Amino acid sequence: MRHYRVATIPGDGIGHEVLPAAQAVLDAAAARHGFTLEYTQFPWGCDYYLETGRMMDADALARMAGFDALFLGAVGDPARVPDHVSLRELLIAIRQGYDQYINLRPIRLLPGIPGPLRDRGPADVDMVCIRENSEGEYAGLGGRFKRGTPDEVVEQTAVFTRKGTERVIRYAFEVARSRPRKLLASATKSNACQHSMVFWDEITDMVGRDYPDVAVRKYHVDALAARMITHPQTLDTIVASNLFGDILTDLGGALQGSLGLPASANLNPERKHPSMFEPVHGSAPDITGQGMANPMAAVWAGAMMLEHLGEAEAAHDIVRALEAIAAAANVRTPDLGGRDDTRRMTDAIREAVMTPAATVA
Ligand code: NAI
Ligand code: MG
Repeated sequence: MRHYRVATIPGDGIGHEVLPAAQAVLDAAAARHGFTLEYTQFPWGCDYYLETGRMMDADALARMAGFDALFLGAVGDPARVPDHVSLRELLIAIRQGYDQYINLRPIRLLPGIPGPLRDRGPADVDMVCIRENSEGEYAGLGGRFKRGTPDEVVEQTAVFTRKGTERVIRYAFEVARSRPRKLLASATKSNACQHSMVFWDEITDMVGRDYPDVAVRKYHVDALAARMITHPQTLDTIVASNLFGDILTDLGGALQGSLGLPASANLNPERKHPSMFEPVHGSAPDITGQGMANPMAAVWAGAMMLEHLGEAEAAHDIVRALEAIAAAANVRTPDLGGRDDTRRMTDAIREAVMTPAATVA
């Protein structure tokens, strides 16, 4: 029997609610498709930091290196631990340490979910964003000098390497080619950033020569943000630097109608290191412990994990189940305007996974 070992990090807040929910759905899909998932949970997060002074153990990356994938809930406890500590010392440490240089984010409005755009439906909002996840504006270089004085100088340096830029753009062309429309939008800002973004454009042109079947358009990132609102139907695959992609994907998440829905993958495509899968949302301290978190984003992230593990049919069943639940509109957590709790939503998704034909009909 096919067997996969998954390291889970529930993290903080609703991470502890949505991750077990998603695991229950994944187990149902695994049973149907003849494989098993073995989870090993790690206690890392803000509570761990407050006890030990570390977001995760010093040997965390070594201990998780042998797993087939990492499944993360959410990290952050803003009242007790500064966000730049929790984000940098856990999430960014894993993304950079495992060279998860692709952040993949589907941006899809599911049928039955009211999106924020007037007169736009699921046919208009169907994109995938590939965000550079290892360098760029989040490289972490810089410093503060003469801190607190009138002469203070602050530098936050963006780093674009040829290797790092080429590999993310090439990956994006591959994704664009695999989708029916074969259409790639590159987020640039070469009018203002004459070094980094002119370079980004040059690499886009160079790599693009290997993909004559893919139509590529360059948009300045500000115009692209506007276009996602005004003409979402003209966008399919998007590639962006770390900062630009961060902003565009939050906008994309908003287009999906609720933060309870968007999911993401942090990929090391060469599979030298494990990849990590997570809902886009954070730890949601405002609703933690109330049993009302929407597990759909975590479930969707789990489907992306199964796809990465080679279980495409199981992944497909889960996405179909999410679509069916969204379309049927009879189970709705509060973020979607309903009154159902996490457990009720999880049970509904599990049932839909176990009887796919019945729910899709
Ligand atoms: P958030 O995503 O945790 O919450 C924003 C709003 O969306 C809240 O009103 C929350 O209740 C709602 N929400 C989020 N997920 C939901 C779900 N599954 N179901 C229903 N409602 C949901 O963002 P916020 O409040 O800005 O950040 C809280 C903490 O999470 C911070 O410490 C932040 O740094 C961290 N964070 C962590 C992320 C991660 O682990 N990848 C991503 C974003 C934020
Ligand atoms: Mg973001």
